[in-house]
Amino acid sequence: MGVPDLTGQVALVTGAARGQGRSHCLALAAAGADVAALDVCRDLPVPAYPLATRAELDAVVAEIEAMGRGALPLEADVRDPAAVEAAVAETVERFGRLDIVVNNAAIVTSAPFWELSEEQWGAVIDTNLSGVWRVSRAAAPHVRRSPRGRIVNIASTGGVRGFGEFAHYVAAKHGVVGLTKAMAIELAEDRVTVNAIAPGAVDSPMLAGLADELGLTPDEVHKRWLHDQLLIEVIPPEEVTGALMWLLSDAARHVTGHCLAVDGGALAH
Ligand SMILES: NC(=O)c1ccc[n+]([C@@H]2O[C@H](COP(=O)([O-])OP(=O)(O)OC[C@H]3O[C@@H](n4cnc5c(N)ncnc54)[C@H](O)[C@@H]3O)[C@@H](O)[C@H]2O)c1
Repeated sequence: MGVPDLTGQVALVTGAARGQGRSHCLALAAAGADVAALDVCRDLPVPAYPLATRAELDAVVAEIEAMGRGALPLEADVRDPAAVEAAVAETVERFGRLDIVVNNAAIVTSAPFWELSEEQWGAVIDTNLSGVWRVSRAAAPHVRRSPRGRIVNIASTGGVRGFGEFAHYVAAKHGVVGLTKAMAIELAEDRVTVNAIAPGAVDSPMLAGLADELGLTPDEVHKRWLHDQLLIEVIPPEEVTGALMWLLSDAARHVTGHCLAVDGGALAH
């Protein structure tokens, strides 16, 4: 019951080309879904670390197709309303439906709030919070028609508690948790569930990119971000995917408006 059979369903994953998004795409395909894999596939002025490439997105698509599932690469920026609308339209045109949305794309930078530039603040809020709303807005008419529509938003422990030197990220992720609850209320009459996942420190290019940007060693990353996790290892992306798959399963049919922490106990304090 805790493992979903997604045969015949269509999922859209943002930030799909690498890290957690890639892991989510592969698990969705393994569970039987066709997958529209969206990523910006280019570097942006914010953040300073590199974002995913088109080659990485194509590799994910090839892995999905190798499992015998349909895969659609979508090169789009979640900050761009027209690109998001077009990506959702292309998904529905290709697969005929859209059942599942995983809002995973995000960026991070770090500085005390008084040192953040307008550009850093704007980029993080626009990508991490408005992007979730924008993709969900475009997808809603289709997901509402699904017999088992699901939206899962990837938040962060920073969506539930504060962290110094991440004010914009924390504000955006708190927004994601609030947006999740509001969307859950509005979509309940269509029996669409909307949930969030709050990962702790996950082994991904984001964490590596941030460490590089700040000139930190892996040990220093552990000290700075993992001291609050009761289980101090960096969390593999597959464990976040495990929570996602449970939220998509029949066992979670009545779980909605919830934020599920996969955080090594960081929120236990
Ligand atoms: N890595 C961590 O420690 C950690 C902790 C808590 C939460 N998270 C969250 O997990 C999610 C996945 O992050 P990750 O760790 O896999 O990082 P990542 O950097 O590897 O993946 C993010 C993906 O989003 C894409 N992306 C960035 N901006 C985009 C845009 N404007 N439009 C479309 N795509 C865009 C990137 O190209 C990249 O492929 C994010 O929501 C992140 O905030 C990560």
